[in-house]
Amino acid sequence: MNSHNSGLLAEEKQALLAAIVSSSQDAIISKTLKGIITSWNPAAERLFGYSEKEVLGRHISLIIPKDRIHEEDFIIQQISKGLRLEHFETTRLTRDGRQIPISLTLSPIFNERNEIIGASKIARDISENIMNKEEKEQLYEEIKILNKKKDEFIALATHELKTPITSLRGFLEVLQKNVSREGINFSLLERCIRQVNKLSMLLSDLLDVSRIQLGKLQLRYEFFNIVEMVAEVLSTFIHFDKHRLVFKNRDSIIVYADRTRLEQVLINFFNNAIKYSPSGGDVEIKIWESPNNIHLSVTDEGIGIDNEHLAEIFSQFYRAVNGQSNISGLGIGLYISKEIIVRHGGTIEVKSQKGRGSVFAFSVPQKKN
Ligand SMILES: Nc1ncnc2c1ncn2[C@@H]1O[C@H](COP(=O)(O)OP(=O)(O)OP(=O)(O)O)[C@@H](O)[C@H]1O
Ligand SMILES: [Mg+2]
Repeated sequence: MNSHNSGLLAEEKQALLAAIVSSSQDAIISKTLKGIITSWNPAAERLFGYSEKEVLGRHISLIIPKDRIHEEDFIIQQISKGLRLEHFETTRLTRDGRQIPISLTLSPIFNERNEIIGASKIARDISENIMNKEEKEQLYEEIKILNKKKDEFIALATHELKTPITSLRGFLEVLQKNVSREGINFSLLERCIRQVNKLSMLLSDLLDVSRIQLGKLQLRYEFFNIVEMVAEVLSTFIHFDKHRLVFKNRDSIIVYADRTRLEQVLINFFNNAIKYSPSGGDVEIKIWESPNNIHLSVTDEGIGIDNEHLAEIFSQFYRAVNGQSNISGLGIGLYISKEIIVRHGGTIEVKSQKGRGSVFAFSVPQKKN
């Protein structure tokens, strides 16, 4: 009774194995130690183009390219020692003479007496992977070229826009001088000039991006009092309804740096602090010294930044999407700021908690005369 049962099970097992082999997407082949093909599944038929009937009893060299025949000796050697061969990448021949890249896994086959009587071989077509690699490289090259074209376009467009806007500003200023202060026209003109100024600021940011890409951002070093510089910049930002500006530094701190460029970083930090705290709050600016550096930080109580965006916000054109879709910007302020600070040999950093606010800070080396 028992032996009858186990006989059935062995048959079932055999049938199951046969079903697995014949439905496999990988080509599964077996051969004797002399290289004679003993089984050939449907996937092997599809991959190599020969039917099972055609290949049973024939030598495996049928599918080995001439210049790779030596591989068979090596494979048989390994198998005879009872060793497996995994993911061996090579090429094989199809019936219509094509060479296809494949990955081979070979294992010895044992009989009941534990003697090695042949090898089973699983072949996977990897031409798609290889094509993907080539395609990826090609795509990467294309993206590099397109990216370069985009940079050139931005540089050109910015340059072309600059001339008419500069003239427009000049004409508007001449007009302003000739219009009486009282009329409606005067305030209209003032508004025009404000908008033109905004435009030219946007353009000069874009020009800076191009300069950075071309490695042409120049620094003009001088000694100046950074506390006074901050006070001056802050005095140009007037009328805040919702925000309270806090700046307590009084003692002068002399730094050797590019004043205009550091002003630009401060203005970027400061504009962001205001812009990204739409419900208001304190915006605090602090300056302090350490033995070798001067530090400046701008703290706000605004919307903050998600952890996942923090690492990216200093990259070009990057804008963190945190419910700010109504806040305008090009995403270049921090990119330029970072470049300015790095060019000074300094560091720039951000700490932020979503919904709580942010601290943007930079430090530049303190050069003592
Ligand atoms: N103080 C801040 N609080 C919250 N998010 C900020 C703050 N500063 C910057 N960010 C985030 O970092 C992104 C990049 O800032 P960046 O100043 O470079 O660009 P922007 O303000 O969007 O545009 P612009 O080029 O006009 O400055 C912003 O879009 C915003 O998501
Ligand atoms: Mg900004």
